[in-house]
Amino acid sequence: MKSQEFFNKKLWLAPLAGYTDYVYRKMCRRFGADVVLSEMISADALIHKNKKTEVLAEFDDADRPIGLQVFSNTADKIVKGIQFLRKFEPDFFDINMGCPIKKVVKNGAGAALLKNPKEIASIVRKTRKLLQDTPFTVKIRIGWNSDEHFDEIVRIIEDEGASAIIIHPRTGSQLFSGKSNWDYIQRAKELVKIPVIGNGDILTAEDGIRMFEETGCDSIMVGRGALGNPWLFSHIKDEMGNIESLQITIQERINIMKEHLLASADFYGETTAIKLFRKFVPFYTKGMHDSSHLRDRINHLISMNEIIDVINSFEQSVING
Ligand SMILES: Cc1cc2nc3c(=O)[nH]c(=O)nc-3n(C[C@H](O)[C@H](O)[C@H](O)COP(=O)(O)O)c2cc1C
Repeated sequence: MKSQEFFNKKLWLAPLAGYTDYVYRKMCRRFGADVVLSEMISADALIHKNKKTEVLAEFDDADRPIGLQVFSNTADKIVKGIQFLRKFEPDFFDINMGCPIKKVVKNGAGAALLKNPKEIASIVRKTRKLLQDTPFTVKIRIGWNSDEHFDEIVRIIEDEGASAIIIHPRTGSQLFSGKSNWDYIQRAKELVKIPVIGNGDILTAEDGIRMFEETGCDSIMVGRGALGNPWLFSHIKDEMGNIESLQITIQERINIMKEHLLASADFYGETTAIKLFRKFVPFYTKGMHDSSHLRDRINHLISMNEIIDVINSFEQSVING
């Protein structure tokens, strides 16, 4: 896929650290996610040769087009991190300027960079110099505490050579509270010519269409709305094509949940797969009768066979009412 083809009317899966691993990206792609990103990867950890961190960058050809996302607090470290990740040959890179969590912003990385347009200019300039023709995107919020530098930052990102900009329109200090303000996505479209990917609070197919219509963005990115709900991508695609979507039945949801567990076990081995899978169960079973009991059982089981048995009996009880 040529770089510009990532951006036109595409559905992106947002990076969600702890969730959008190789396995979940595959689930989402199967239902129509066009472009995916790795979870955020610490440039500092790469520089210190942390082997665990490298695992976050692993993917295969079926996982393309994929961007590897890097974070750190200075241009030099971000560039070093990207340099290190080039051996994986992703389709593009992404620079995280949106993460609001304490551990990250206390060092001046993630959304804390939005306080410092000069450093942003240096990061984007040096990344372009390093990458030459390889595309890269920058993922931002609207600012740290306010939108004070928003216009300036969006222009810098274009002027210094990024291929596209991804906007989650909340401030960093807002964390995930309130609503994302899509006016800023529209504002960015007025400010720059590079593609703008809109992100924030797309929970239904209608939300996805509304973001395209209200903001004029080139592509949309879905995060939390796809958790335990990977078929949201196919519903958005149906809606884009004016096709009526088939509703997913409870049985199908449970089957997809089981497939997720099995795929995870193939990739990580049972023990790690079970640990990771537990976080997804509340999302897959949301609203199902007696799902808290199922979650509780799964949280205490350590063998795949037992977990599959418990899910099968849950399925029977849900079907039989
Ligand atoms: C659990 C979790 C982990 C996240 N991890 C990342 C990350 O690694 N990199 C990043 O740029 N954004 C991360 N985000 C932010 C999302 O990519 C996205 O911008 C945000 O959730 C808003 O989109 P949504 O409303 O569709 O979820 C994370 C969000 C959540 C809830």
